[in-house]
Amino acid sequence: MTNFHFAGCDTVYLAKKYGTPLYVISENYIIDRIEEIKRNFIGKYENVGAIYASKAFLTKEMARIIKREGIGMDVVSGGELYTAMEVGFPEEKIVFHGNNKTLHELEMAVGNGVGRIVVDNIYELDLLTQIAKQYNKRVNILYRISPGVNSHTHKYIQTGQVDSKFGIPIGGGKIFEAIEKAMNLSNINLLGFHFHIGSQILDNITYLEAIKAVTKLMREAKNRLGFETKELNTGGGYGIQYAGGEKRKPISFYTDPIMTEIKDNCKNYDLKVPKVTIEPGRWIVGESGITLYTIGSIKEIPNIRTYVSVDGGMTDNPRPSLYEAKYQGIVANKVNKEASQVITIAGKCCESGDVLIWDLKVPEIETGDILAVLSTGAYNYSMASNYNKTPRPAVVMVKDGIDRLIVKRETYKDMLRNEI
Ligand code: LLP
Repeated sequence: MTNFHFAGCDTVYLAKKYGTPLYVISENYIIDRIEEIKRNFIGKYENVGAIYASKAFLTKEMARIIKREGIGMDVVSGGELYTAMEVGFPEEKIVFHGNNKTLHELEMAVGNGVGRIVVDNIYELDLLTQIAKQYNKRVNILYRISPGVNSHTHKYIQTGQVDSKFGIPIGGGKIFEAIEKAMNLSNINLLGFHFHIGSQILDNITYLEAIKAVTKLMREAKNRLGFETKELNTGGGYGIQYAGGEKRKPISFYTDPIMTEIKDNCKNYDLKVPKVTIEPGRWIVGESGITLYTIGSIKEIPNIRTYVSVDGGMTDNPRPSLYEAKYQGIVANKVNKEASQVITIAGKCCESGDVLIWDLKVPEIETGDILAVLSTGAYNYSMASNYNKTPRPAVVMVKDGIDRLIVKRETYKDMLRNEI
């Protein structure tokens, strides 16, 4: 009987060595994706760049990998920026996002000289201007705009539609007022625009719709205000494969049409082609990760369903309960046994909604078996919580068949460290 191997490692051995629940991340996979971006986007086009959206998965070790691979990093909070700074991430390659950055976060960003601040609204521009003056700096910014398009994904992870908390709407005059204002500020260097239409997107149509709207804005900004767009950040959102879903697309599936659309429109509108950046998170790290659990109680409700509970759940993976996300599971110590039943994988939290997988086909199972849940690299560790005072799992990185601990398992003591 062979066990399920992931990135050259025996997952049952990893579960024994480090305990469960356990996040396992393949460094080789992450490097492969970044290499693909370098080969088929950065190496293929002039004046383009890639930025890793660290909200998908960020630890100090991940920041070191991104630093070593030489691409940029998007941060969305003081905590993510702090993590990047802790490993000496080149500040000029950091892009700071967020729809309500605090005074403290903006000071931290300006003080550390982050490369780009993506300004979400005019209130933020005013705050940033004051800080830039205090620091006697000229800050490079992009405006986040809301292109007014609906991406094909779960509504909780759509971001480019008109009714959105993110960015300045492209329709109406607000954006031109904002551009003019920034152009007149000596401490602000407005370089262009950013949009992000949503996440887990498996088509490329909505990107093109967004680009149509943005390039029109670029033309208007040039004609009305003489503003030349030097940079265009097209966000992230590229999808990966989850249970029953489509396969992850190559990077060029998104970037080739994006580049063609931008170049064509710029030509038609007599605009210089700006520097184009992309900002994927999930696409780089999503399929690089799995989570290992130990099976505990098995409860059969005759003629209804069999609940098989694991030692983790919505605390380490809130995505099924938040977005009805579908995951694939494998009984890691029984990969060669034939599936003979359909069960439901439940988490251990005090919530009926804490179910990781509905209707999973598995072989005969018993308490103590190891379950591997696939494609948990993105938005699992980074969204984990201590609900029910559950400690967060450890994170193990594997590379070329060798495992190393990169985040220790939280202890009860860790959870209480700030309590008085
Ligand atoms: N850039 C910006 C400005 C973003 O807001 C995001 C994601 C990204 C890039 C990266 O998107 P990605 O390539 O990873 O799809 N928690 C949700 C996903 C929220 C994404 C938020 N923004 C989930 O688990 O599906």
